[in-house]
Amino acid sequence: MITAAAQKRSLGAFYTPTNLSDLLCSWGIRHLTDQILEPSFGGCGFLTSAVARLRDIGSSTPQEHLYGCDIDPNAFEHLGKTLGELAKEGHFIKGDYLLTEQSSWVGKFDLVIGNPPYVPYQKIDSTVRELAQSRLNALGLKLGQRASLWAYFVGLALSQLKGGGRLAWVLPGSFLQADYAKGLRRFLAARFDRIHAFAVQQRLFLEEGTDEETVVLLADGYRRAVPSITATDIALSICKDIADLRDKIESWTNGEVLQSSDCSSSVSGQISALSREIFEEANQLGECRNLGDFVKVRIGLVTGDNPFFLLTRFRAAELGIPESALTPVLSKFAYFDGLTFDDTDHENVLRDGGRALMVNCEKQGNALPLQAYIDSYPPEKLKSVGTFGKRATWTQPEDGNIPPAFFPVMHHLGPRLILNLTNANCTNTLHRAFFVDGVTVVQAKLLSISLMCTFSQISGEIVGRKYGSGVLKHEPRDAERIRILVPSTAVAAEINSTYKKMDSLLRHGNADSARRLADQFILSKIEFNRKQCWLDQLPKELLAIRRRRVPDRKKVSLNN
Ligand SMILES: C[S@@+](CC[C@H](N)C(=O)[O-])C[C@H]1O[C@@H](n2cnc3c(N)ncnc32)[C@H](O)[C@@H]1O
Repeated sequence: MITAAAQKRSLGAFYTPTNLSDLLCSWGIRHLTDQILEPSFGGCGFLTSAVARLRDIGSSTPQEHLYGCDIDPNAFEHLGKTLGELAKEGHFIKGDYLLTEQSSWVGKFDLVIGNPPYVPYQKIDSTVRELAQSRLNALGLKLGQRASLWAYFVGLALSQLKGGGRLAWVLPGSFLQADYAKGLRRFLAARFDRIHAFAVQQRLFLEEGTDEETVVLLADGYRRAVPSITATDIALSICKDIADLRDKIESWTNGEVLQSSDCSSSVSGQISALSREIFEEANQLGECRNLGDFVKVRIGLVTGDNPFFLLTRFRAAELGIPESALTPVLSKFAYFDGLTFDDTDHENVLRDGGRALMVNCEKQGNALPLQAYIDSYPPEKLKSVGTFGKRATWTQPEDGNIPPAFFPVMHHLGPRLILNLTNANCTNTLHRAFFVDGVTVVQAKLLSISLMCTFSQISGEIVGRKYGSGVLKHEPRDAERIRILVPSTAVAAEINSTYKKMDSLLRHGNADSARRLADQFILSKIEFNRKQCWLDQLPKELLAIRRRRVPDRKKVSLNN
């Protein structure tokens, strides 16, 4: 049976707090004649705020102005309870907004407002997605295959907006971070006289059970004609909480210039002027390069079924599978304490009950217990796992590309390059890092040291993607874009000893000291005018960035 919470998640049904819907309705509804559409009205928060706002400006017939859609029958129960008689027949559609082609709605609305569902692309029916995409094509908008449901709502709403109309959306953090959102932002920026995004640091949906970041998007003056100019990205201001958002919306509405960056550089936009100067000075140095100039980052192994392929030592013994028929594997960043991973570390992971052994059929042919284990795999599952069909032998997830280093995918801490002294491979919960030709072991250690310094950690925050829970994610190409200082004057003995000290500090839980050591080491090897300023300022900045990234309830220090 599907639980209420699961149902809520699958519909992305997280209702907007009243103070936010009130604020956006006050901004968006300006005239007694305004026609308003809420395309996923859910708990009716926006509709209720809209009724109040219309009454405030003197309307005696707010019901005449409100239209909506929602796929969830519960939303219609809310509609009955909150608007009752006010809900005009024919104004509200029960169904999928992506498939709702109301000809009478085209170009009708002065305001489209709401908080569309945040549902990942994998959960959107592919036929529905294609139909919606073909409607968007007619508007000239091409959303990528991976666009989440909210992006379709934002795009499709344009066809229902009047020339000169407004948008007021509550959107998730992916509006700033996702690749598919970049094109959408430019598309919108070119079609409105004024458009601005506001990222709210306070988590507004905790009571609704999600710690998703909130971005408010306001746009005014819709230009129905296809614009001839190519717009730049949308400007973004950072707001502490709703009170701050209210002030900033008021200033923006009054035409004041707000302190802002653009949406694509949301982290860098929040960095103080002094830190930005120091960061830029380092960024301009000849020794400053992209990590990708030295390291190619690749995803780890996709097994298709980790619980089946990854075994603990205990489980392997229980099944009678000899360790010679298994290969070492890693599937968690938490297994790395320091800057290296060696056989003792692997042994410790196994001793602590980690699933760090992988079934490897090539190793011992069809050793009997191994064959029995493989034969026990449920046949119906065998057909349903797409990954199995993609490799030559479904029983053989190992591809033999043992990486010389690992890189975390999702983590609360910043990026790290962990040198691999074992024969272990990793699953795709970690990235594999391969050094380009010519990088020696000592240079690999230098890269590992330098990546830990505050400059690269800040760069990692800028290029990474933030997730609602506060986790930072680096796709391989994001990781390769991290800026790193690689001084040529560092000599092997110093590199080796610094690397060893940092490894030990990290293993003792002292990431802050390890980072400071990295700063001092790198600064001692480069010509940099403001060394003390770096040491005083950048660590504070890094801490501030991480505090903004991680929701209030989780305390962040540079050590955790
Ligand atoms: C994030 S909630 C927001 C609800 C309301 N707009 C608010 O701000 O409180 C998203 C809403 O989208 C609705 N929804 C999900 N998929 C939909 C679809 N394909 N078409 C129309 N509504 C949908 C959900 O039922 C839910 O009410």
